[in-house]
Amino acid sequence: MKIIIDKKNRKYIVHDEEFHCEKGVIPREVIADAEVGDVLETHMGKKYRVINPNINDYIDLMKRKCSILLPQDLGLVVGFTGVGNGSKIVESGTGAGSSLLFFANIVGPQGHVSSYEIREDFVKIVEKNIDGTDFNNITLNHQDVSEGFKEEDESTDLVFLDLPNPHDVIRDAYRILKVGSFIAVYTPYVEQFQRVVKELEIAGFKDIRIREGNVRELEIKNNRTRPNSRMAGHTGYITFARKI
Ligand SMILES: C[S@@+](CC[C@H](N)C(=O)[O-])C[C@H]1O[C@@H](n2cnc3c(N)ncnc32)[C@H](O)[C@@H]1O
Repeated sequence: MKIIIDKKNRKYIVHDEEFHCEKGVIPREVIADAEVGDVLETHMGKKYRVINPNINDYIDLMKRKCSILLPQDLGLVVGFTGVGNGSKIVESGTGAGSSLLFFANIVGPQGHVSSYEIREDFVKIVEKNIDGTDFNNITLNHQDVSEGFKEEDESTDLVFLDLPNPHDVIRDAYRILKVGSFIAVYTPYVEQFQRVVKELEIAGFKDIRIREGNVRELEIKNNRTRPNSRMAGHTGYITFARKI
């Protein structure tokens, strides 16, 4: 996979085939021979640089049919649960695979991410999105997660839930988590996390906390630097709890 970017930060994934944009064409051979750092030019003179892509570039550009999680929320999950190289993460729903690929990148080749998705059309999209990466640490389960996780008892370092009815799977999440590990549940609505908190208490989770990941970006302008006046006011609430 190669990613090219123009001076306005517009990015495109290019494969070994002709690239078309509104400002012309880059031939297939030029794309095939291109290396990171090269500047490619269309026949109308529009320039693109080949960059070394990171996971966020790939997630931004991959195919999706549902809303995906953003780095500010996934960063909070990683930051507050302490997962990292070698961790075993179980998540649902898979959706377009944003959280799945983000976690696969964080846990690395020694770790593993198992993801559960109920919809076949989404599974097909995610399979393609995974194929575009080098990750060998992913298991994709086409399954209704409320039927139960396949993982063994106390085998998992983090359960992450991003689906409409997360409360249905919290007791089984408790079963598969190692003692001391966390569950994190992303919900857009207050009413959802209220049910989640009740289920967490019933399941026996402790240290229940709810956090939001609001990011305020600043516009850098000569003598007029200030917060951007347009920003996303809300993404979701993340409920964290620990098996103690
Ligand atoms: C908002 S999307 C998840 C987005 C994903 N976390 C991402 O970052 O790309 C919610 C997903 O949960 C799936 N889902 C809903 N109920 C489910 C269930 N019972 N078992 C498995 N997946 C489910 C939906 O089909 C949908 O793909």
